[in-house]
Amino acid sequence: GRVRAPTHIISTISDDRGEEPCYAGVPMSSIVEQGYGVGDVISLLWFKRSLPRYCTKFIEICIMLCADHGPCVSGAHNTIVTARAGKDLVSSLVSGLLTIGPRFGGAIDDAARYFKDAYDRGLTAYEFVESMKKKGIRVPGIGHRIKRGDNRDKRVELLQLFARTNFPSVKYMEYAVQVETYTLSKANNLVLNVDGAIGSLFLDLLAGSGMFTKQEIDEIIEIGYLNGLFVLARSIGLIGHTFDQKRLKQPLYRHPWEDVLYTK
Ligand code: ACO
Ligand code: LMR
Repeated sequence: GRVRAPTHIISTISDDRGEEPCYAGVPMSSIVEQGYGVGDVISLLWFKRSLPRYCTKFIEICIMLCADHGPCVSGAHNTIVTARAGKDLVSSLVSGLLTIGPRFGGAIDDAARYFKDAYDRGLTAYEFVESMKKKGIRVPGIGHRIKRGDNRDKRVELLQLFARTNFPSVKYMEYAVQVETYTLSKANNLVLNVDGAIGSLFLDLLAGSGMFTKQEIDEIIEIGYLNGLFVLARSIGLIGHTFDQKRLKQPLYRHPWEDVLYTK
C-alpha cells in the first residue's frame, strides 16, 4: 500500500493547493458569491464551521463595538507613543496589542471560564463573588476605570439587547448580570464590563446554537479563543491611531515631569 511520508506540520483550517483557497473547505468564490461577512470568515477559520446568521452577526457586533475606545486607554496610548517615536505600522500596532491582558481587553476568556464554572456548579452570585474574594482573585469581566452603575457601558447594553432579541437562551449572561447586581451593591465601579459581557454571551452562543458538543465548548474555553475577538477588533483602532499620528506629523512623545511624582 501507499505509505504517507511523515510531515512536520498538520493544518486543518485552510488549504491553498487548489484553484482557489478554501477556508474550512469553503472556496473563496463561495464566500464572495454567498455574501459572507467577516463573522462568517471568523466562524470558518476559528471554529471550522459555518455558524447561523445571528451568531456571525453577534461576532461582527463584538468586532465593531471593540474596535476602538479613544486615545487614553492602554493599547491606544502605547500605539500613539510608538508611532510618535517614528516606528512603522507593525511596531506601533503590536506595541498597543501587547497591553491586552488580564486588566485590559484580555479578560474575556477568564470571564467565560469563571462564569461557566460558577453557573454550572450552581453557585449563587453571592457565593461566587465571595469565593473569589477569599481566593484574592478579582472577578474577570467585572469593573471598569470610568464606567459606573449610573454610567453604564453602552457596548454592554447593545450586546445584551442583541442577544436577548436573537439568542435562544441567555442564561450565562443573566448569571453575569446577577453577579453584577451583587458587585454593584459593594462598589459603584464594579459593573459588568465589555469583556464580561462578551465572555458570558459567548458561552450562551456556544451552548445555545446547537453547533458545538459539550467537549468542543470545553476545549474552546480551555484553549481561550475569546480574547482573540478583542485583539482582532482593537487592531482596527490601533492601526487607525498609527495613521492618525503620522498624518498629524506628531513629534517624539516625552511625558511631562510635572506629571511624575519623583520620590525616594
Ligand atoms: N472583582 C472584585 N473586586 C474588584 C474588581 C473585580 N473585578 N475590580 C476592582 N475591584 C475592587 C478592587 O479590589 C478595589 O478594592 P481595594 O482597593 O479594596 O482592593 C476596588 O474595587 C477599586 O479597584 P481599582 O483597582 O481602583 O479599580 P481599577 O479602576 O484600577 O481597575 C479594572 C479596573 C482593572 C478593570 C479592574 O476592575 C479589574 O481588574 N477587573 C477585572 C479584569 C477585567 O475585567 N478587565 C477588563 C476591563 S474592560 C476592558 O478592558 C475593555
Ligand atoms: C476599552 O475598551 O478600551 C475600555 O473599556 C478601557 C477603558 O479603560 O476605558
